[in-house]
Amino acid sequence: MKGFIHLISTLACITLAAANAPGWPFDVTEINAPDGSVKAKFVSLGATMTELWVKDRDGNARDVILGYDDNTLLLTDPDHPVFNAIVGRYANRIKNGTFSIPTTKEAQPPGAGVWQLPTNDHDGEVTLHSSDYGWDRKNWTVHSRSPTSVTYKYVDPAGEDGQGFPGEVTVYATHEVSNGVLRSSVLAHATEKTPIMTTQHVYWNLDAFQNGGDTALNHYLTLDASRIVHLDGNAIPYGDFIETSGTIFDFKNGKMIGENFNQTVDNCGTGCQGFDHCWIYDQSETRRAGTSLWSNNSGIRVDISTNQPAVQMYTAYWLNTPRKEVHGGPSLVYDSWSAVAIEQQGYVDAVNTPEWNVNQIYGPREDYEWSATYKFSIVDA
Ligand SMILES: *[C@@H]1O[C@H](CO)[C@@H](O)[C@H](O)[C@H]1NC(C)=O
Ligand SMILES: *[C@@H]1O[C@H](CO)[C@@H](O)[C@H](O)[C@H]1NC(C)=O
Ligand SMILES: *[C@@H]1O[C@H](CO)[C@@H](O)[C@H](O)[C@H]1NC(C)=O
Ligand SMILES: *[C@@H]1O[C@H](CO)[C@@H](O)[C@H](O)[C@H]1NC(C)=O
Repeated sequence: MKGFIHLISTLACITLAAANAPGWPFDVTEINAPDGSVKAKFVSLGATMTELWVKDRDGNARDVILGYDDNTLLLTDPDHPVFNAIVGRYANRIKNGTFSIPTTKEAQPPGAGVWQLPTNDHDGEVTLHSSDYGWDRKNWTVHSRSPTSVTYKYVDPAGEDGQGFPGEVTVYATHEVSNGVLRSSVLAHATEKTPIMTTQHVYWNLDAFQNGGDTALNHYLTLDASRIVHLDGNAIPYGDFIETSGTIFDFKNGKMIGENFNQTVDNCGTGCQGFDHCWIYDQSETRRAGTSLWSNNSGIRVDISTNQPAVQMYTAYWLNTPRKEVHGGPSLVYDSWSAVAIEQQGYVDAVNTPEWNVNQIYGPREDYEWSATYKFSIVDA
């Protein structure tokens, strides 16, 4: 009911906004690297990046992320692809929308310490990205900004009576650019013990749909990882891992995303061709792993480093949304494999997988920190 009232009041705002420029009623911020190598635009809804311009090998700037020309669709597009937003309070999937504190295997609501979220995926058996109205669809305030950075703030209220998440969370998301680099980071403080696991859900097409670069299948990808989470038919972890060496999931030494692509039929769920999996980075206290993505078509390469232990890679099978004008829209649409979503994050549904011993419960004495650094360069032809 609460969600419903929220939706109504939000729609009322949009109706009032109709006469204004696209992007309203959300605050729009543009930031620029001093040398002009990186330009990014954001809206306050979801602290979302809406444009990201970097230079190709000929020195021409291209917008390398998906999105809308009318950013009110971030809130209203029923397909809800979550274009480039900060996702929370808990990104990715939660089995049955339930969890308990402390973490147990099969939390059964109602019960002491058991919480229930609205479910929105796999016929109500899963909560995806904290339901249809998670952080990515909240209007954050602008906390501070400069020509090279913007910081957004959102206060996520506490749930009650076992519904939602426990405790109020105050979260800041900062996006900043320097020469050749974009860095995004999240800092969150909770008043009570609660799960927190965020991501930035960036959809990349490094060709920006130019010169025949209509999919990301021609992009090369390195994931510095030797294991993926073993998922059931609802994309929920069984609790074990699959070694990727010698399998279609092996991106450790870099390969074209579309290589052996005909072996990926039904690989991301029934009827879904491609990938939608969580890779566990090969990293340790002393060694940081990461992701690299590049296209020889545009020559654009991005190297991503993070403080996160895992990365979700989704080849965007289910997309079906009119493209931005700079990408050939609105007559052409973003559809299967138009982009690859790369989401730096924690272990999927560790809040229901106690055997991993991965703590995702934060509280008054333990703040949550997330970061990703995107470094752009040009590949040799
Ligand atoms: C899933 O959630 C429902 C509704 O809260 C609950 O009745 C059921 O026991 C839960 N099932 C599992 C397997 O946790
Ligand atoms: C959303 O937040 C921004 C920044 O705080 C503000 O300018 C704008 O009016 C808000 N829009 C709505 C619909 O609340
Ligand atoms: C997959 O593609 C390869 C190379 O294009 C081809 O040799 C192979 O027969 C195909 N396999 C299937 C199952 O279609
Ligand atoms: C990469 O692109 C350049 C410039 O278009 C082209 O000359 C070269 O053959 C390409 N290399 C590969 C491996 O596709």
